[in-house]
Amino acid sequence: MLQKELGELKSKGLFREMKEISGMQGPLVVIDNREVILLSSNNYLGLASHPEVIKAQIEAAKEFGAGASASRLISGNMILHERLEKKIADFKGTEAAIIFTTGYMANIGTISALMGEKDLVICDKLNHASIIDGVRLSGAALRTYPHKNVERLEDILKKEISYKKKLIVTDGVFSMDGDVAPLSELVRIAETYDAILMLDDAHATGVIGKNGKGTCEHFGIKEGVHVQMGTFSKALGNLGGFVAGSKVLIDYIRNKARSFIYSTALPPAIVGGCIKAIEIIEKDNSLREKLWSNVARFRDALLKLDFNIMETESQIIPIRTRDASLTMKSAEFLLKNGIFAPGIRPPTVPKAKCRIRASLMATHTDEHIDKAVEVFKRLKSEPHSKF
Ligand SMILES: Cc1ncc(COP(=O)(O)O)c(C=O)c1O
Repeated sequence: MLQKELGELKSKGLFREMKEISGMQGPLVVIDNREVILLSSNNYLGLASHPEVIKAQIEAAKEFGAGASASRLISGNMILHERLEKKIADFKGTEAAIIFTTGYMANIGTISALMGEKDLVICDKLNHASIIDGVRLSGAALRTYPHKNVERLEDILKKEISYKKKLIVTDGVFSMDGDVAPLSELVRIAETYDAILMLDDAHATGVIGKNGKGTCEHFGIKEGVHVQMGTFSKALGNLGGFVAGSKVLIDYIRNKARSFIYSTALPPAIVGGCIKAIEIIEKDNSLREKLWSNVARFRDALLKLDFNIMETESQIIPIRTRDASLTMKSAEFLLKNGIFAPGIRPPTVPKAKCRIRASLMATHTDEHIDKAVEVFKRLKSEPHSKF
């Protein structure tokens, strides 16, 4: 049965395989003994290979050991965990914060803690899978509104009045499209309809806003986003998830979120690295400035070549292709020519919206970007590309 299903996936061009990478997550990586430009990493600021972060991580391991050895609520709660929670609350400008072992666990744990069978969760259609899994786990009803369509969101809220609690959830920067949620509108709507508003700022934290604090800072929003979720695994170059918000919210999550309660705390080395990464972001804007100049260089060149890069507003640049198998052939062509940017197809995106997902990093040089543009230009004239 499993073989048959895998065979079907293969025949539809949907079988998933992984590329093995040697060395660090830098702008250049080695795949199959060949150096290629990495154009698909979430390591947007280059902090995954930043010497100060690596040093902090080694020092934390030497002082506090390899693992936390228990859940936070048993005996795994170490000084470093508390320090990181304080740091992230200060960074996000909230009363408190709580950290999880991954962003995925932050989403499933938080949503399933806050919501239950009598409640309703309303999601942007393009929200991340971990949000949807959190809703499923909670037993709450799920409605989705078309991407960024606040009128349709309001229609749902007007009609669905029988639920006890209502939660609106949105990505800040959308992970596959690279556009930004209409957060000011969402704050107004949540207030009007007495709904809780949750923001998944995984791809915005460290990147957007004047000081890299994410989507709230980007729009100058100080209040009204009740649950600010994020990850340490993207621009912060590491591992882990967090939720920032009021003290009551964080106390509630600590007591109710099963993915927090029943899982071992993050290892001290990771936590030490995350603290250092935030310190670097706080004191130095230059990485973010370089990232944005790289984004402009790549985006403008692709537009000149007449690629469809959708509505991107960020470091995530989707390049629309046709069907799944042509997408994968295009990704293979790129890799053969020294550019690693994967093809994205169902179930991650709808069938009609397959794409190459490129993402820029602060550590890319102008030469890396120009080389990538040159390969994309050649891809356009390949018979299989049909853009
Ligand atoms: C929008 C969004 N939310 C949550 C997650 C999960 O975060 P993590 O990779 O830290 O588990 C991701 C990562 O893929 C994401 O893109």
